[in-house]
Amino acid sequence: MINKDLILDTVKLLRNAERIIAFTGSGVSAESGIPTFRGKDGLWRQFRAQDLATPQAFADNPRLVWEWYDWRRQIISEKKPNPGHQALAEWSKMFPSVHIITQNIDGFHQKAGSEDIHELHGNIWKLRCTEQGTIREDHTVPLKETPPRCPKCGALMRPHVVWFGEALDMDVLNQAVSLSSKADVMFVVGTSALVYPAASIPFTALESGVKVIEINPESTPLTSNADISIRGKAGDVLPKITKKFQRKPNRSEEKEK
Ligand code: OAD
Repeated sequence: MINKDLILDTVKLLRNAERIIAFTGSGVSAESGIPTFRGKDGLWRQFRAQDLATPQAFADNPRLVWEWYDWRRQIISEKKPNPGHQALAEWSKMFPSVHIITQNIDGFHQKAGSEDIHELHGNIWKLRCTEQGTIREDHTVPLKETPPRCPKCGALMRPHVVWFGEALDMDVLNQAVSLSSKADVMFVVGTSALVYPAASIPFTALESGVKVIEINPESTPLTSNADISIRGKAGDVLPKITKKFQRKPNRSEEKEK
C-alpha cells in the first residue's frame, strides 16, 4: 500500500516548486520488463561486470561484449516506456522546468517524451568509434556485424556507455550537479544509490537545500536522508502524484502540518 499522506506531502511541496529534477535508475524501467542490476533477476546477479562492462573486457573480447550489448538492445527494443516514464514526461508540461538526470542507457525517457535528459552512463543506442571518438546512433537489432566497425575509418566501434573503471563525461556530470543544486525538488526514482559518482548527486542536492523525495519499493543509503521516502513502484507512485497534483487542492488534505 502506498502511503497516501506521503503523496499529499509530495504534492504540497510541488505546489510551490518550479524547478524539478528526476534522478532515475534502472528501477524506473523495471515495470517495462528491463532487468535492473542488483535486484532478484538483476544483471549483476547473472553476469560478471568485469567480463562484460570494463575496458579490459572489451580489449580481451570485443565480440563477447558486443553480443551482450546486442542482447540487451534486443530486450529493450521489444519493450516500451511505462506509466512512470510517462508521468515524468507529462511533468514537463506541468512545471516551468523539468530535467531528467538518468543512469539508464535504454532511452526510455526520450521515448516517453521527456525533453531535457542528461544521460550519466551513456546510451545503448549510440556507438562510438574507438579511434576517432565519433558517435553514431544505430537502432538496428540485431547488429549487422559483431563487433561493429566504424563506417568511416573501419576501426572497432564500442557502445557509447560508461564502463566500470571509466570516468563519466565531465560536461554531463558537471551540468547534472549544477542543475541539482539549483532545483526546488528532486525525485530520486528506482536507484539503489550505490554507484558513484552518480549516487552523490542526490546528496549534493540535499546539501544545497533541495527537497529530495525518494521513490523505491526498498530502502537505500539515501532513504534516511531524503525529505520524503515513498515505498512503491515508480509506475504506481508517479502517476498517483500527477493525479493528486492535477486535482483541485483539498484544504483539509493539504493543510499545514
Ligand atoms: P540497481 O539494480 O542497483 O537498483 C535498482 C533499484 O530500483 C533498487 O533500489 C530497487 O529497489 C529499485 N526498483 C526496483 N523496481 C522498481 C520499481 N518498479 N520502481 C522503482 N524502483 C524500483 O540499479 P541502479 O541503481 O540503476 O552502471 O544501478 C546504478 C548503476 O549500476 C547502473 O547505471 C549501472 C550499474 O552497474 C553502469 O553500468 C556504469
